[in-house]
Amino acid sequence: MKIIMLGAPGAGKGTQAKKIAEKYHIPHISTGDIFRANIKNGTELGKKAKTYMDQGALVPDELVCDLVVDRVRQEDCRNGYVLDGFPRTIPQAESLDATLASLGESVDYAINVEVPDEKIVNRMSGRRACVGCGATYHLVYAPTKAEGICDTCGAELILRDDDKPETVLKRLGVYHNETQPLIDYYRGKGILKEVDGTMDMADVFRAIVEILGA
Ligand code: AP5
Ligand code: MG
Repeated sequence: MKIIMLGAPGAGKGTQAKKIAEKYHIPHISTGDIFRANIKNGTELGKKAKTYMDQGALVPDELVCDLVVDRVRQEDCRNGYVLDGFPRTIPQAESLDATLASLGESVDYAINVEVPDEKIVNRMSGRRACVGCGATYHLVYAPTKAEGICDTCGAELILRDDDKPETVLKRLGVYHNETQPLIDYYRGKGILKEVDGTMDMADVFRAIVEILGA
């Protein structure tokens, strides 16, 4: 099962992708997480990506596409995967389609998690990310057991630099210009599925499982 998560920054793509990966035993591939891991490890890719990410801009397609194309060809992706944060532009979607076509494969579902802009800024300001393992929480909607400490690995939680309100607004603008056109792209392919992302996280997941099947 090859699944793409679509949606604005903060719509809940990562939250839901993690649950999908656990339930269906497929890898969760988040380009944002891959870039953040590279930044943390001080790699060349991380240094390049950081300059764009800090501004709320997209990392150039050529830095993203090869990375994902290599990843989806790995052994653990044979039964499918859930892509979170990729594709984000029409050229990225075309690059993915071309790669899959060369393998005789195609994307099965593009799930659009819909949340209106006005709810996004509020959500992002409450999000906290673990500096150790990258797990995400929310001060109100997904709190940790001990304040400021990751439930999974015990490391410290921070507000991501790009979750500050002014950067979130910039990311929303980029989303509408560059990423939203993918909704029509996948609708045209007949694989678009839409879920209401303003519901409680558990209800959003239930709606997704209804689409994917138990
Ligand atoms: P990325 O990390 O992908 O950021 P994003 O798309 O902006 O999405 P987020 O991770 O911010 O949000 P999400 O939808 O995953 O929401 P979450 O589940 O955390 O990318 C970061 C940057 O990397 C980009 O800006 C770009 O520079 C670069 N990049 C990455 N991929 C790229 C690509 N393909 N091409 C070019 N550049 C790329 O939820 C948000 C919060 O809300 C959490 O606190 C969560 O607990 C809470 N929450 C979730 N669901 C609910 C709910 N139903 N009710 C209440 N609260 C909820
Ligand atoms: Mg995410």
